[in-house]
Amino acid sequence: MDTLSIRDEILRLKKEKDVCILAHSYQAKAITEIADFTGDSYQLSVMASKTDAKTVIMCGVRFMAETVKILSPEKTVILSSPIAGCPMAEQMSKEYIENIKKSYPDYAVVAYINTTAELKTICDVCVTSASAVKIVKNIPNDKILFIPDCNLGSYVAKNVPEKTFKLLHGGCPIHGKITGEEARVAKRLHPDAKFLVHPECVPQVVAQADVVGSTTVIIDYAKQSEEKEFIIGTEIAISEYLQFECPEKKFYPLSSKLICPDMKATTLVDVYNILKGDGGEVIELPEETIVKARACIDKMIELGG
Ligand code: 13P
Ligand code: SF4
Repeated sequence: MDTLSIRDEILRLKKEKDVCILAHSYQAKAITEIADFTGDSYQLSVMASKTDAKTVIMCGVRFMAETVKILSPEKTVILSSPIAGCPMAEQMSKEYIENIKKSYPDYAVVAYINTTAELKTICDVCVTSASAVKIVKNIPNDKILFIPDCNLGSYVAKNVPEKTFKLLHGGCPIHGKITGEEARVAKRLHPDAKFLVHPECVPQVVAQADVVGSTTVIIDYAKQSEEKEFIIGTEIAISEYLQFECPEKKFYPLSSKLICPDMKATTLVDVYNILKGDGGEVIELPEETIVKARACIDKMIELGG
């Protein structure tokens, strides 16, 4: 079967079987085209709880599918590619953080949403890159143990100077490997471009940005701006998407290294096979994990809403 017929078959099957397909904005265009909704990890989980469909296919990485399951435990949630995990989400185990907490008993544990469901069960509140500053400001506690991303944590600490932070050595291996020197070179090559950066980048890159924000903040800014050129400091899919959506503007990826292999693991054939009843991974979480992790996500919605 060629790509076009696979695409048509997917559209037919998802309607026939009442399946909702969600895609993270870092997915390939072929995947976002067959999705019912594309967005950042927070928007996806909210969309999942709003859909009437009993089955959700999450084209993204494991922690995103787990978040959907935690918020909608009655739904069948299928991760499109069982090998798609976020390396950052798997950097710190529950046992490791339990031990660290013993040394910082009066700190609130703030977990980036890029964490496992199991780890979320011992954290006080979740944040996304879009909501982290607001939520940390709103937490009554003035001592914050921020996990796992020390780059996002540094960015939040800079924006909430009135609080004390303990950061650990975690972070995104994709955003985190871009250096301050690479950012300087990109800016020299494109002196008229606005520099938009994800806070998962190292502080030496973030310090040079005109705008720092989540995937959605970067997309919205670039679309609405009167400016004509942009250097995009996040996963390459966002540069490609923006170039397609705004052909009259120019988008330069900060680096060709900004490719997340886990986000590219899902293919159209994977989605087709899942709809035929084969492949993917049905997300199963113990009831206790769902209840405890949900408290951490509910707190995020309460403090960030
Ligand atoms: P968002 O929370 O913006 O979807 O980003 C997730 C992510 O993995 C960024 O690298
Ligand atoms: Fe995880 Fe980084 Fe990939 Fe995002 S880009 S899913 S944080 S490894």
